[in-house]
Amino acid sequence: MRARLDHLVVSALQQGAAVPAFTCYDFTTALAVVEAAEEAGRGAILLVAPKTAATPNGLRLITALRGLADAASVPVAVQLDHASDLRVIADAVAAGADSVLADGSSLPYEENIALVREARAVLAAQGHADVVIEAELGGLAGDEDRAFGADATGSSAQGTAGLTDSAQVEYFIARTGAQLLAVAVGNVHGKYKGEPQLRWDVLQDIAVRTHIPLVLHGASGIPAEELVKAAAMNVGKVNFNTELRTGVLATLEAQTGSYRADGENLQGLLGTWNASAKGFAAGALSTLTR
Ligand code: 13P
Repeated sequence: MRARLDHLVVSALQQGAAVPAFTCYDFTTALAVVEAAEEAGRGAILLVAPKTAATPNGLRLITALRGLADAASVPVAVQLDHASDLRVIADAVAAGADSVLADGSSLPYEENIALVREARAVLAAQGHADVVIEAELGGLAGDEDRAFGADATGSSAQGTAGLTDSAQVEYFIARTGAQLLAVAVGNVHGKYKGEPQLRWDVLQDIAVRTHIPLVLHGASGIPAEELVKAAAMNVGKVNFNTELRTGVLATLEAQTGSYRADGENLQGLLGTWNASAKGFAAGALSTLTR
């Protein structure tokens, strides 16, 4: 069923839980996530990468995800992830995304604020003032679509790292009107170099300065014992991508040969893809509601 992303996340936090968000490059993965959410009786978020949304086929995928989300028996939101291009934001929302991460985290502070405000203005002008906006303060190392080792100090293939400055949080939220805030607290996109070292002290400092839900990106590789602590720090949304891909690719690698031998059985192979993604989503849903 359709759900406002902020309401979904706030209601999970009220129950001491967080909502997992999963990057979906394709419909098979999205079907698996929604099935897992329905079986768990919990809400979930389908994320669409900006590179996906920048293509005509990606916009069609968003429209298909919109239909899938609306028909689900649990609340499901469709979010455009990490977008800084106003045209992509406008197109994704017109195609069916109900929330957007307007991501100016690689820009200087005031320009970050300006980007989020412009995104809001563009959406309002298009008749979509109700779209939920997440903003990001602090930079995450790593690539969003391809996993290379990164550490939170910035020695990554791409991107600038920097912990969220908690002193900037209140003004940033007041000026942007963001409904959720993505934070940089030692988390990275992709694979961690060594063990993840989450800065719970920084997260705590941020959490006391705002009532809006916080978002933890780069959850792949963070142990479940750490993730379960997130909701207590007002982290109501936790984003997963790399680990989902790892599971699907390993499954395809291991099983493609036997499905080819079984009469080019693509339908069967897609079934194992579904099972891999669904198993991962079920695990994340269970961890975040512990
Ligand atoms: P990972 O690929 O590290 O899980 O990060 C996902 C993410 O934050 C999507 O926004």
